[in-house]
Amino acid sequence: MLNVQSLAVHYGGIVAVRDVSFAVARGECVAIIGPNGAGKSSTLRAISGLAPVTSGSIEFEGKRIDGLPAHMIARLGVAQVPEGRHVFGPLTVEDNLLLGRSRLGTGKPADGLERVYSVMPKLRDRRMQKAGSLSGGEQQMLVIGRALIGEPKILMLDEPSMGLAPQIVDAVFSLLDGLRRTGQTILLVEQNATQALEFADRSIVLNVGEVRMAGASSDLRARSDVVSAYLGGTEHI
Ligand SMILES: Nc1ncnc2c1ncn2[C@@H]1O[C@H](COP(=O)(O)OP(=O)(O)OP(=O)(O)O)[C@@H](O)[C@H]1O
Ligand SMILES: [Mg+2]
Repeated sequence: MLNVQSLAVHYGGIVAVRDVSFAVARGECVAIIGPNGAGKSSTLRAISGLAPVTSGSIEFEGKRIDGLPAHMIARLGVAQVPEGRHVFGPLTVEDNLLLGRSRLGTGKPADGLERVYSVMPKLRDRRMQKAGSLSGGEQQMLVIGRALIGEPKILMLDEPSMGLAPQIVDAVFSLLDGLRRTGQTILLVEQNATQALEFADRSIVLNVGEVRMAGASSDLRARSDVVSAYLGGTEHI
């Protein structure tokens, strides 16, 4: 479904990503892990058209998408849940969700809402509440819901567990697990390597802009070098 070949992202003189290649098949869940500044967000942002692709190519469903404007890429079914849980604080939960339907242009908004509420019943309880007054965990669910209501073909998430209490992190991952079981294709960026390697079918380890390791998450979990670098004691490296 998604094919990234020799991707490079530069910001002026700064090299954020160099020669990164990977693919995501339909229905697969892939994680990109790695420390601060590894180029994880830049990779996601390049796919969604928000960061400049200096060289390489990105194909989605067999078509080149690098160079397309972000709104066109979104319309093709590529949804990104950015880092930082940006909700529209003065709007209600429901209005925040409805903003995510803009790519579809067809269908009844109520059907989309029902689908999101069925996987996130807490949002239904709070649908008339102002989004700015939700807890951090609820805001994270809301931004994921806003992406889901647009029926993305691939759902990309940038550090959905960041800054959340362990119990809430578990709730986010169990939601993602539920989505996976419905066949949702997911590309996840995480510093929380333990959770990411448990969740994803395959994982890619980035460091200073380059792919250091890639493979089945179960194989990576069993490698002592991965354990000592990414899973030993501190999860946030
Ligand atoms: N808009 C920008 N302008 C200039 N440099 C940037 C920009 N965005 C990112 N960078 C640089 O690119 C490199 C990779 O950053 P990126 O945000 O992709 O890393 P990351 O793996 O997501 O890190 P983190 O885990 O801290 O979120 C860093 O050196 C960063 O300073
Ligand atoms: Mg990042």
